[in-house]
Amino acid sequence: MKRRTFLEKTSLTSLSFTSAILLPGCIQSKKLTPTNNNELSPQEEGFPPFPIAICTWGFMDANQAAGEALMNNVSSLDAVIQGVHVEEQNIYNTTVGKGGAPDRDGNVTLDACVMNSDGNYGAVLCVQNISNVAALARKVMEETPHAILAGQGAEDFAYAKGFKKENLLTKDSEQAWEEWKKSSHYKPVINIENHDTIGMLAIDKNGDLSGACTTSGLAYKMKGRVGDSAIIGAGLYIDNEIGGAVATGLGEEVLKTVGSFLIVELMRNGMHPQQACEEAIRRIVNKSTNYKDFQIAYIAINKAGEVGSFCIHEGFTYMKFQDGKNMNVRSASYVK
Ligand code: GLY
Repeated sequence: MKRRTFLEKTSLTSLSFTSAILLPGCIQSKKLTPTNNNELSPQEEGFPPFPIAICTWGFMDANQAAGEALMNNVSSLDAVIQGVHVEEQNIYNTTVGKGGAPDRDGNVTLDACVMNSDGNYGAVLCVQNISNVAALARKVMEETPHAILAGQGAEDFAYAKGFKKENLLTKDSEQAWEEWKKSSHYKPVINIENHDTIGMLAIDKNGDLSGACTTSGLAYKMKGRVGDSAIIGAGLYIDNEIGGAVATGLGEEVLKTVGSFLIVELMRNGMHPQQACEEAIRRIVNKSTNYKDFQIAYIAINKAGEVGSFCIHEGFTYMKFQDGKNMNVRSASYVK
């Protein structure tokens, strides 16, 4: 994209939205040269601001992995799958992949989806014994005639494709579940259990956009429960001509407003990603009498690389990798 065209497309809207706050703990890539203050940034020089990776919450290592992959010319789809896999393998993250909290019967079941720049989508729902479920969702997208595989079918397909069987219930998660069973009181906690799903969006050096979303869902959910994360339009939506959006939080509420699709459509109609995220949260809040009891957050990016985020309650942050820097950004919220 030529400098003038790019600036025309981005400058006005970029200047108008400053509702995200950089956190003091913002980090820079160890391997990439930090931007020198005296130098013009790629944007100031008139280049598109790509590659970019953003992800929900403070999943610094995951976003760094995606950002570095993008700098090495990896496609946006490869980058998001590599990025989210860092958390799928992280046994200390009790909301994604291995180490995820189980359902109330002690089964760890995972949901994940991916969407690529061609508008293709693949998902797996309620999968047991496989940690790398975003990669499995990609296999569904690329190597089956279907878009979604669920349960045992998804697990069997994983083995057929060479994924290894793993026990996803760690000692710590099992102990926490045993403790929970003493009261069996089901009440997800804002910013902790509803929910730390990792959703990631990336634009690669070619300007192509992809996304991935992966979760173990709500701790101590009912057996068979599936949230928003693997559902197209709710947990994730990508339109390579417009942008992408991804959700985290109480899946039941995200599903009802198809929030990620809504955000992309609002951007199509001219909204900045920030405005679009705010409108999607407003829809939920306006329809819900108990929004004070749950958290939902969206992050979004448009084709020009502009980013937005909004959540119901304070406390949600997201990561943004750009120009070799990986920053943790605090999102603006509906409830102050
Ligand atoms: N947003 C993740 C879930 O509700 O499962």
